[in-house]
Amino acid sequence: MDTPAAPVTVTVTGAAGQIGYALLFRIASGAMLGPEVPVRLRLLEVPAAARAAEGTVLELMDCAFPLVAGLDVFDDPAKAFDGANVGLLVGARPRGPGMERADLLAANGGIFSVQGRAINDGAAGDFKAVVVGNPANTNALIAASHAPDVPASRFTAMTRLDHDRAVAQLAAKTGAPVSAIRKVAIWGNHSASQYPDITHATVDGGPATDLVDQSWIAGEFIPRVAKRGAEIISVRGGSSAASAANAAIAHMRLWVHGTRAGDWTSMAVPSDGSYGVPEGLVSSFPVTTAAGDYNIVQGLDISVFARGRIDASVAELASERDAVKGLGLV
Ligand code: NAD
Ligand code: LMR
Repeated sequence: MDTPAAPVTVTVTGAAGQIGYALLFRIASGAMLGPEVPVRLRLLEVPAAARAAEGTVLELMDCAFPLVAGLDVFDDPAKAFDGANVGLLVGARPRGPGMERADLLAANGGIFSVQGRAINDGAAGDFKAVVVGNPANTNALIAASHAPDVPASRFTAMTRLDHDRAVAQLAAKTGAPVSAIRKVAIWGNHSASQYPDITHATVDGGPATDLVDQSWIAGEFIPRVAKRGAEIISVRGGSSAASAANAAIAHMRLWVHGTRAGDWTSMAVPSDGSYGVPEGLVSSFPVTTAAGDYNIVQGLDISVFARGRIDASVAELASERDAVKGLGLV
């Protein structure tokens, strides 16, 4: 008889928010770590929202998920991250009326520095985090820089939603099923400056660029994907939630279980200097994953057009890093 897998402790911050609600039930069902892996869920919220998170726990109980090995709500990051193997850092302060970007960076800096310290002091040795809360790349940088004992490579930010959006747009344009598409890439920041790239993408094994022209790529595809978050907010009246939760699950599932042969995913990871992105900036790259590790895909040709787009997004990341440095947060 097979030995049952040991439970994995998963900490979700912002658990009472929109994305948290869309995320928790799927993690509990096994969609993220697999149908054989029990999960201990630790939900972190601010004190004012802890009761709402308790309400979600009541519903999680009522699902009687066989994989759930624990359900706890915390308003103290030190307790929430104690023993955590996986962190989904969703909770963040949204931009309010009259708030400048620097105000948002400062407000979130307070959140992610405290959580980084809690992770440093209490998380398990194999801890891995995906930051979803915006500005996700820079929040990941802040958390990592407050966790000196945890390899910075374990702090990643989510661009899988942008990746999925790019796949969906390419599928809609070419009439191919999404399952026929491989090697779409997102470069840079999770913001409107990102570079969604189909230069290396294939559709049914052939080059995607044989099926679409450059004017569609530059004039429709890139702005549609890069500004999709704003489009959702305007049409839905609220920011993406279920699609963001789905992407967070895919990000972590792929990191833990690996990308399929002949494909990659997009993840914002601390740069090792690849493709001229300054070391340490948390920037999106195409990555392959296997058995809990990831590697930035090397050796891709970068056209003059791509270079300009990547450089612009990386410059934005550098300015965010400088802003939080100025605030003493990294
Ligand atoms: P939401 O406002 O519905 O929920 C956020 C939750 O976080 C709230 O319940 C709040 O109480 C909680 N929170 C705030 N500070 C916290 C802290 N210090 N500790 C724990 N919890 C805290 O927002 P949402 O729709 O769930 O979105 C969450 C974040 O995800 C936002 O920053 C949003 O911009 C971002 N987002 C990112 C992507 C992406 O692709 N990276 C996509 C969609 C949304
Ligand atoms: C998204 O991409 O849907 C989110 O980051 C929300 C936003 O502000 O764009």
